[in-house]
Amino acid sequence: MTTETQATAAASGAGATARFRENKQFTANTSQERVSTIAGRVIKAINDTVLEEHVSYDEYNALKAWLIKVGEDGEWPLFLDVWVEHSVEEVANANRHGSKGTIEGPYYLPNSPEQNSPATLPMRDDEPGTPLLFQGQVTNVAGQALPGAKIEIWHADDLGFYSQFAPGIPEWNLRGAVVADQDGNFQVHTMQPAPYQIPTDGACGQLIAAAGWHAWRPAHLHLKVSAPEHQLITTQLYFEGDEHVADDIASAVKPELVLAPTDRADGIGREVTYNFVLDPQD
Ligand code: DHB
Ligand code: FE
Repeated sequence: MTTETQATAAASGAGATARFRENKQFTANTSQERVSTIAGRVIKAINDTVLEEHVSYDEYNALKAWLIKVGEDGEWPLFLDVWVEHSVEEVANANRHGSKGTIEGPYYLPNSPEQNSPATLPMRDDEPGTPLLFQGQVTNVAGQALPGAKIEIWHADDLGFYSQFAPGIPEWNLRGAVVADQDGNFQVHTMQPAPYQIPTDGACGQLIAAAGWHAWRPAHLHLKVSAPEHQLITTQLYFEGDEHVADDIASAVKPELVLAPTDRADGIGREVTYNFVLDPQD
């Protein structure tokens, strides 16, 4: 039986594919030699697995059917962002000295509504969950404040769904761009996100069930932090005590990215401080 929640999750996968297709800027300037090397190694890795694991025709045909279904369900962005992007991010950010990055995932949208700090992310009047004040400072690697730094933030709601990808949530809900003050300081009022389960009713969910894995990512804030003449960092922040911090299906948690919010003195939810350090543009 398909529950309403699962149907919502499937729509998220299709939305992520549509969003990726809308973005026409992905053209890699990759030489024929490099294409041959990379594609050859991927094909060899698959062949090695077949030979070493004695893969049968039944298993080969199950794989073929499953690969076709990943496309039909619109789940290639989900598959790649969960099982591959973390390695791409590791390579891309290997030489940074500032804050740790991690995967972008499939649900980023550019041009979210911009506000000056202190800001409150767009949310429903009755937005469920625990209020969270997220604050900090943006500096360079020498510890100097970066005035006018921009913090783009997007995250799931208290049920684990993202606006513009799951139906029934207002546009830009829990998404925004916040401009830090003259000292690089920012304050963002939002709601604590819930753990996120990748869609269970599509091809990726089928694989997870067949393999006996789980589908969970720990609750997280997604961020892109930038400032003039500095490298933009794409990252996520997680929450101490979340059972999936040590067991993220997307392998995107790093110890430096785990927050420990405290109760606010005024009794309105929780607060946490995290400072971003940006590398210079190279
Ligand atoms: C996926 C979803 C996320 O929210 C995320 O941060 C990473 C991956 C996914 O469904 O693929
Ligand atoms: Fe996410």
